[in-house]
Amino acid sequence: GKVRAPTHIISTISDDRGEEPCYAGVPMSSIVEQGYGVGDVISLLWFKRSLPRYCTHFIEICIMLCADHGPCVSGAHNTIVTARAGKDLVSSLVSGLLTIGPRFGGAIDDAARYFKDAYDRGLTPYEFVESMKKKGIRVPGIGHRIKRGDNRDKRVELLQLFARTHFPSVKYMEYAVQVETYTLSKANNLVLNVDGAIGSLFLDLLAGSGMFTKQEIDEIVGIGYLNGLFVLARSIGLIGEITDMINSFITMLLKAELLVVPS
Ligand code: ACO
Ligand code: LMR
Repeated sequence: GKVRAPTHIISTISDDRGEEPCYAGVPMSSIVEQGYGVGDVISLLWFKRSLPRYCTHFIEICIMLCADHGPCVSGAHNTIVTARAGKDLVSSLVSGLLTIGPRFGGAIDDAARYFKDAYDRGLTPYEFVESMKKKGIRVPGIGHRIKRGDNRDKRVELLQLFARTHFPSVKYMEYAVQVETYTLSKANNLVLNVDGAIGSLFLDLLAGSGMFTKQEIDEIVGIGYLNGLFVLARSIGLIGEITDMINSFITMLLKAELLVVPS
């Protein structure tokens, strides 16, 4: 008789067994015909459901605003050095992505966790910040190397404006703003940064959309994959930095007549 190996790997997000692949049950043709965007695809593949348009639009804005931030930040620096050392696209990309962590771009999940815990427990911003200080933990989502109280991060302002206009509630974000007010009274560089803005606003998205149970929100925040938004976004910019390096290198070789283009 037939000997069938038991299944070891099961994906619950996409299925390619039918005539056309499906993302969380939605066939590719519907995705194209209904004009879905990247935010909808992320909703299907990360959250296994279709989210309202204002949520998917917010996800897309996060991706667009975090796509790049100049050559001086850790990720771009590593990627540029690796590309200039003659390595391939994937190697150059991952060398930059590997710098994403608690100090750079990877504080979204922790910001969401700590802001949620503090807000849900009813801690005042003073109690929250001072308790973090006692534990020797920097408040995730607070602080920036360049941005200051009098030179806010435009990305944060744009995200806040969008959420205040379209979200049914922004209670977690308002809490993060109150925390910022307190930290700014301590030092001018302790602004709410883009990770903190996304972390707190994602809590508002999850809680306010009515699409997630309390348990699901705890799971999303607990497992921690919101940093994926920054990873995904910054990959766009890092790939751009690589192609920019390759183009400048070719231009330099052509100028020095070290490379001849066949006519
Ligand atoms: N909470 C409490 N205190 C802080 C925080 C914070 N989030 N950030 C800085 N400080 C304090 C430091 O303890 C330090 O005090 P000290 O001199 O008494 O030790 C002082 O502020 C200056 O710290 P630096 O490390 O010099 O600040 P820097 O400007 O280099 O750091 C950074 C910026 C890495 C973002 C820092 O603020 C931080 O670790 N924040 C928390 C993590 C975070 O949110 N990262 C995401 C940043 S946004 C992005 O990457 C896209
Ligand atoms: C970025 O988006 O890369 C920056 O906000 C991070 C930084 O350290 O300036």
